[in-house]
Amino acid sequence: MSQDVQLDHVTMRFGDTVAVRDVSLTIGAGEFFSFLGPSGCGKTTILRMISGFMEPTDGVIRIGGRDMRGIGPNKRPTALIFQNLALFPLMTVADNIGFGLEVRGVPSADRKRRVRELLELVALPDTADKRVTDLSGGQRQRIAIARALAVEPAVLLLDEPLSALDLKLRQHMRAELRELQKRTGVTFIYITHDQGEALTMSDRIGVMSRGVLEQVGDGKTIYDHPDTAFVASFVGESNRFAGPVTQAAEGWAVLDTPFGPLRGRNPRGLGPGDRATLYVRPERLAPGDSDNSLTARVSHSDFEGAFVNAFLDGGLTVQMPHLGQEPAFVPGETVRLGFRAADAVVLPTA
Ligand SMILES: Nc1ncnc2c1ncn2[C@@H]1O[C@H](COP(=O)(O)OP(=O)(O)O)[C@@H](O)[C@H]1O
Ligand SMILES: [Mg+2]
Repeated sequence: MSQDVQLDHVTMRFGDTVAVRDVSLTIGAGEFFSFLGPSGCGKTTILRMISGFMEPTDGVIRIGGRDMRGIGPNKRPTALIFQNLALFPLMTVADNIGFGLEVRGVPSADRKRRVRELLELVALPDTADKRVTDLSGGQRQRIAIARALAVEPAVLLLDEPLSALDLKLRQHMRAELRELQKRTGVTFIYITHDQGEALTMSDRIGVMSRGVLEQVGDGKTIYDHPDTAFVASFVGESNRFAGPVTQAAEGWAVLDTPFGPLRGRNPRGLGPGDRATLYVRPERLAPGDSDNSLTARVSHSDFEGAFVNAFLDGGLTVQMPHLGQEPAFVPGETVRLGFRAADAVVLPTA
C-alpha cells in the first residue's frame, strides 16, 4: 500500500533564510525518488515537512491526495530513517523493530510474527535476540529499515542513511535498498549529496540548489540533458567553454570561446549576444576532428586501469577507455580533439 506525495508551491523560511523555495512536484506511488544536492540546499527540510516534523511556511503537501496541514508526524503514513539511524543500543534487534508496534498497542504475538517477517525481508532471520551493538554497520542499516517498515508506512523517507558506512558497504547497500524498495512497493524518498547513489538507485531524481528544485528527471535525462548550469556542473564532470552566443537557430547555438567557435544544443533558446557556457562530458571528447574541433596542449595524463584521463591546458579533461590502442597523451605536446555538437549543451551562464 504505497501512496503518492505531492508538493504544491512549498516554501520554508527560517528568518531571512529561504531553505526551500516554491517547490512543486508529484512523487508517484511506489516510486524511488531522490533529492540530490550539496549540503545546505534544503533536502532535510523537505523531508521534515513531508514527515510532519515541520509545517511549510507556504504551500501544501498532500499524501495519497490528502492535505497534510495540521496532521502531526505520528498521524501521517510516513516513516523516517535518520542519518545516524537512531537505533536503541541497549535493546535487542526484535525490540528495536517491534518498538513502533508496541507503542501502537499491537499484541505481543502479532508483534513477534511481524518482526519475524521483517527480519526475513531484510535477510537477517537469525538476529532477533542479538543486541544492536553486536551487528555490523550494514546489518544495523537493515534493522533501521525493518524498524521503519514495521508500522507499514506508505512512504519511507531516508535522510542520507548510508553516509556513515565505508565506501564498499555503501555501494553494496545501494543495490540492497533498491531491491527492498521493489519488493515492498513502498514509495521511497531518499536524500543524498552523492550523485552515484542517486543515479544508481532512483527512478527519478530532483536536483536542488539553494532551496530551489533545479530539475526533475530520470538519471539519464539529468546527466545527458541538464536544464541548468548548476545541474550540468553538479552531476558528473564537464568541460566548460564560456563566451557570447554568435549564432542561434533551430535548437542550436554557436559560442565564441577561447578555443574558437563551438556549437551545441540550445534547449533554453538563447540568442545572439547572450552570455553562455557550453558543457561537454570528458568521455564525449576524443582525439581527431568532429562537428567541433579544437587544439590544446597536454598538461598530464592519469592511467586509471579501465580508462585514461588526459588533462589539457585551459582546464580540459578527456576520458578514454583503455583499449590498448588509444594515443599516448604526451605532456607538452599539442593535440587535436573533437566532439559532436549533439553531445554538447549550451546553457545560460550562472
Ligand atoms: N531549524 C532551522 N533553523 C534555522 N535554519 C535552518 C533550520 N534547519 C535548516 N536551516 C537552514 O536551512 C538551509 C537548508 O538546510 P537543510 O535542509 O538541513 O539542508 P541539507 O539537508 O540539504 O543539507 C540551511 O541554510 C540551514 O542552515
Ligand atoms: Mg541534510
